[in-house]
Amino acid sequence: MKKTGPIPDGFSALDGALAIGEVKITDVAAQAGETPLFVYSRALLSETFARLRAAMPQQLAIHYAMKANPFGPLLQHMNGLVDGFDIASGGELALAINAGVDPARISFAGPGKRDAELEAAIGHGVTLNCESEGEAERALAIAARIGKPLKIAIRVNPSFDLKGSGMKMGGGAKQFGIDEERVPVLVRRLIDAGADWRGFHIYAGSQALKADALIETQSQTIALAARLAEEAGVTPPHVNLGGGYGIPYFPGDEPVDIEAVGRALSAELAGRASILADTHFAIELGRYLVGEAGVYLTRVIDRKISHGETFLITDGGLHHQLAASGNFGTVIRRNYPVAIANRFDATAEDVQSVVGCLCTPLDRLSDQAMLPRADVGDLVAIFCAGAYGASASPANFLGQGPAAELLI
Ligand SMILES: Cc1ncc(COP(=O)(O)O)c(C=O)c1O
Repeated sequence: MKKTGPIPDGFSALDGALAIGEVKITDVAAQAGETPLFVYSRALLSETFARLRAAMPQQLAIHYAMKANPFGPLLQHMNGLVDGFDIASGGELALAINAGVDPARISFAGPGKRDAELEAAIGHGVTLNCESEGEAERALAIAARIGKPLKIAIRVNPSFDLKGSGMKMGGGAKQFGIDEERVPVLVRRLIDAGADWRGFHIYAGSQALKADALIETQSQTIALAARLAEEAGVTPPHVNLGGGYGIPYFPGDEPVDIEAVGRALSAELAGRASILADTHFAIELGRYLVGEAGVYLTRVIDRKISHGETFLITDGGLHHQLAASGNFGTVIRRNYPVAIANRFDATAEDVQSVVGCLCTPLDRLSDQAMLPRADVGDLVAIFCAGAYGASASPANFLGQGPAAELLI
């Protein structure tokens, strides 16, 4: 038997079925008329945001990194909550604009921005988080050619990383950002060229659960921004402090103590160097804002036993939930939180492995978990599916195609 991760807050049993508030997930699946299906909850998105907002310093802007989930209706909902959006491609720019996001609230990070993407972003008045000197020169030339002002911040490759993070975007040679020591010269270059220099973007890592690590990184980030500003001799209008706030996926994971992180950040901002006195600060979060508000539903289409192990074979799989299969940035495969949605309060009495319909042994959504006994027609729920699910999985693998998505 292998343990499963903790089921996020906000899910409960109603008449024996998995529910969010008064809404039974089984009813949602029945109304949708199809599985596999991602269900995202407006109420859970709003609750998570409200708690984070209350924990963070008032003057801190909170941005949504839409790479975590670019589903249109979800973007529209987030647009009413957050202060800004971070995009990573021209495709995400189009999705954000379609969802009604004001381009003035968008920033665009990511290495390898193509000229057409730069042109679209500059044309819409998006702030570029510039990742190299070469990109800065291309952006200056494009802005001059199309006669638009260039709003540009510099993404810094910090010499530190976010300790304990699942993905590190700083602390050594990286394809992201510009090494610290080269940043002041580029600031001067951009200002001298007449660009609207927006400040710094400093993103050190992702998926950290320990408050201490986040607090230390935020402190280092503010100190770095102050040092670079001193060296460049100019106050940055904005500093994006990155994020990296994680969510519990696996057995033993504990949620981030965001109240502690918020208190420390307030103190850090209050004591910041005078060169940053007029600077606006932001954080940019993806999975923390949306990850726990989504669940992936897949129906059992066969139940079989091989060498004593029970397999629930479902109509879904890693082509929709790659991360739950352990093939998206994890070293050791562990189980996401999982449940039988139509028997949510039944006793867990049977060790069963939930697998998908793909002909690869990688397609294992949950490995030897103790669950209520499930059979053909039952509905499996994989939690923490609100981030890096539908859009970060190879939907077309084996000709399967995407899952349906619903915001309730
Ligand atoms: C620049 C940047 N911003 C934001 C994010 C979002 O990370 P998360 O979903 O862990 O908050 C990432 C993740 O890769 C990133 O690279």
